[in-house]
Amino acid sequence: MANSRRDKADSYTQKAHKEGYPARSVYKLEEIQKTNRIMKPGDTVLDVGAAPGSWTLFVHREILKGKGQIIAVDLNPLNLNPIPPTVIAYQGDAFSKEIREKLTSHGQYDAIISDAAPMTTGNRSVDTSRSEWLAEQVVMLADEQLKKHGNLVIKIFQGGGQETILKDLRTKYTKARTSKPQACRSDSFETYLIGLDKK
Ligand SMILES: C[S@@+](CC[C@H](N)C(=O)[O-])C[C@H]1O[C@@H](n2cnc3c(N)ncnc32)[C@H](O)[C@@H]1O
Repeated sequence: MANSRRDKADSYTQKAHKEGYPARSVYKLEEIQKTNRIMKPGDTVLDVGAAPGSWTLFVHREILKGKGQIIAVDLNPLNLNPIPPTVIAYQGDAFSKEIREKLTSHGQYDAIISDAAPMTTGNRSVDTSRSEWLAEQVVMLADEQLKKHGNLVIKIFQGGGQETILKDLRTKYTKARTSKPQACRSDSFETYLIGLDKK
């Protein structure tokens, strides 16, 4: 079972390469989008932790199709050449004062998607608490910058404050749930929190 999931994971990497995506993570968003209809053409989307850029490219190619805008932010530059015309990219800490001002200037957003993850240390409790902190920051960003009826996707490492954050999302969104896409590696402890239809 573990082997067959790993084989599938490897096939995702090959598929991403063939389809011109810089990372296999694109298939996680594809699955989340298919099940939850997070975004639609014409939307203004904020992608937090966007580098190297697979999610951003997927939203540009497969969802917006030229109609709408993606604001992509990461500590690292996007590895997309050229940067698609619907994309405005910022490099820096998404939660710093300087970058937040820039993100606010393009808001409010129809959808906020975050695949942001800390640099892992191998110490599970350190890694999960850093991931929890990032997820909480994204929830606060969405409190301010996501439109009413907007949708939210946030990565979090399992074992952190996932249940507490989910409980909070249930008070702020009509529907809130967790989702672990098939494309996640079998040995990965990441999962995604979904908030649909902000109240
Ligand atoms: C798993 S990668 C994202 C992959 C991306 N979704 C894709 O499909 O190409 C996680 C990213 O989160 C970014 N990140 C972590 N903390 C951040 C922060 N405070 N501000 C902006 N980006 C951050 C990292 O630099 C890293 O590039």
